Amino acid sequence: MAIKYVEKKGRVFVPTKKARELSLAGQDVYKKAAANRVKFWEELAREGIDWIEPWHTAYEQKGLKFGWFKGGKLNLCYNAVDRHLDRPDKTAIVFVPEDPQEQVLRVSYFELFKQVNKAAALLKQKGVKKGDVVAVYMPMIPEALVFMLACARIGAIHSVVFSAFSPDALRTRIKDGGAKVLITTNYYYRKGKKINLLKQANKACRFIKIKKLIVDRKKVGKTFEKMHDVIVKPESMESEDTAFLLYTSGTTGKPKGVMHAVGGYTTQAYWSCRYVFNLQENETMWCTADVGWITGHTYACYGPLLNGATTVIYEGLPNYPKPDRYLKIIEKEEVNVFYTAPTALRMFALAGTEYTRKYKMDSLKILGSVGEPIDEATWMWFYKNIGKNRCPVIDTYWQTETGSAVIMSLPGIGPFIPTYAAIPFPGMDFDVINEKGKKVPAGKEGLLIQRPPFSPSLIRGVWKNEKRYKNYFDKNGDYTAGDGAIKNAKGWFRILGRSDDIIKVAGHRMSTAEIEDAIASLRGVVEAVIVGREDKLRGMVPVAFVKAKAGLSEEDVIARVVKRIGPIAKPAEVYFVEDIPKTRSGKMMRRILKTLLAGEDVKNVSTLINPGSVKAIGEMIKDRAKRKARCGEDWEMILEREKSNGKEK
Ligand code: WT7
Repeated sequence: MAIKYVEKKGRVFVPTKKARELSLAGQDVYKKAAANRVKFWEELAREGIDWIEPWHTAYEQKGLKFGWFKGGKLNLCYNAVDRHLDRPDKTAIVFVPEDPQEQVLRVSYFELFKQVNKAAALLKQKGVKKGDVVAVYMPMIPEALVFMLACARIGAIHSVVFSAFSPDALRTRIKDGGAKVLITTNYYYRKGKKINLLKQANKACRFIKIKKLIVDRKKVGKTFEKMHDVIVKPESMESEDTAFLLYTSGTTGKPKGVMHAVGGYTTQAYWSCRYVFNLQENETMWCTADVGWITGHTYACYGPLLNGATTVIYEGLPNYPKPDRYLKIIEKEEVNVFYTAPTALRMFALAGTEYTRKYKMDSLKILGSVGEPIDEATWMWFYKNIGKNRCPVIDTYWQTETGSAVIMSLPGIGPFIPTYAAIPFPGMDFDVINEKGKKVPAGKEGLLIQRPPFSPSLIRGVWKNEKRYKNYFDKNGDYTAGDGAIKNAKGWFRILGRSDDIIKVAGHRMSTAEIEDAIASLRGVVEAVIVGREDKLRGMVPVAFVKAKAGLSEEDVIARVVKRIGPIAKPAEVYFVEDIPKTRSGKMMRRILKTLLAGEDVKNVSTLINPGSVKAIGEMIKDRAKRKARCGEDWEMILEREKSNGKEK
């Protein structure tokens, strides 16, 4: 009989007695942490992480610069790999290729140790030293994790670039980071097709000097087979040394390199994975995120490995070749923790329960959601059809900048409430304020902030851009998340989504300014504005309003965005407009465009210099809504199915 971990109590879900007993965090964890937050983290760091040298100062802050475990020395790779060698045969990574006919690969901790050392030796041969940046442009194959760990081992700073980003986007990130070496792969499989990644990588590097290391997909798992065994000593890193860089979208056209520190990141990645997913070393976690995103870094790679558990990585689309592929993987690999994004869940839900009904998935213990707000219907669908009314759904709120999850209900403690991420992780202080920096009353909407002492894995800097780092903090010196939120009378947080010009498209973070810049680079474009529109599947989609000379087509605009950024940033709709609504001071009124896209009327146009534009655009939108909606490539399968059911939207 499958274990029941959760039960309904009134309008919320609470852990069962059994789940409470299994809790690794313990029922008094919040109380313990609140008594002395710095001391709490110190205890966790001491207990969970192997240090080469202890720290002398647990938390230090000067102005906006803060640090954890000063004086302490450690190595992230050692903690994720070497220290588990007392269980050498335990599986570290399960690699599931997209083609169901291709054999699943299991990499033991000992095998991982050997490969990481060889990869580290290769990097050294290429001249990579401590503090150098290494770009990683790879699909979800074990070698991606191996090279990330190898960088961490020698103190090099990896900068992973999502494999679906375009050559232009890769080039921008390589140049900004000043990467010395690029690690890439010749090809990988997606939707049954071979994707030539090397061609993309070569295009990106055409005019830059960079050494390359190319992994052959055909030899996956055997990349280092011909090398002699070597041991590369893990570099002794200062706690505040940079662990890695990860580019993310901000509110300008240029992505920013978010910097994470070794000590704080290692500590929080380990403990968040243990507490948030109650992950134990005999268990298997499948986080479906790509390593190109922070979720993949922390919960597909470092978190589970730091905990000595098994991590499942899957190369392809979760619905390939059929919508039950992910269910098959859960069942076959006996996954205990399944962590995914609302956008994927909405896609699974569309495929219907005829698939989920056939799978018991008794191994499942915890379900997690991340990346965008999860609506109540999707939450309930996840709970019922995948969790079979047994497993808690943990809605985890966090960001590239926070490095690890920061707001969620803990398993075994709860409560679990649809649409509420709920409670800050023990030892963290979040609140909701208004634009003036004052606390808003309970239940009222405001801006989410974090107060010092800041969480250990919070951003330490923006690569080569101090000003953008400082922009994260308000005049009270608090960290501003950029999200709208409500804190209710019980202190539970409900995250409402971005309060700035960032949109989450299928959980992917996109900057409207970056897409606008891409469009504006087209000859003939006078002005371009991007706004997010709600979408049933992808949460949000970008919509473009373009003022251009005649002769440009929707396809031209889309092609330019794909070239500059990648298919994930494709506008769902492009409107060629005569005029973009603007105030007298020349500010483009995105809010008005959003209102029009939502199908609502705009009442007050008196502040505009060109009020006539509103009516014209409103009509174009209504007209378009009558026609078929354009869909991104990820949804092709569903649309085909819908078509065959005769229910095409
Ligand atoms: C933005 C950060 C953190 C891993 C993946 C995304 C949104 C994230 C939730 C959630 C509501 C969420 C926020 C945040 N977000 N998780 N559980 N509920 N919104 O990292 O790409 O840096 O995006 O994702 O808007 O600011 P990211």
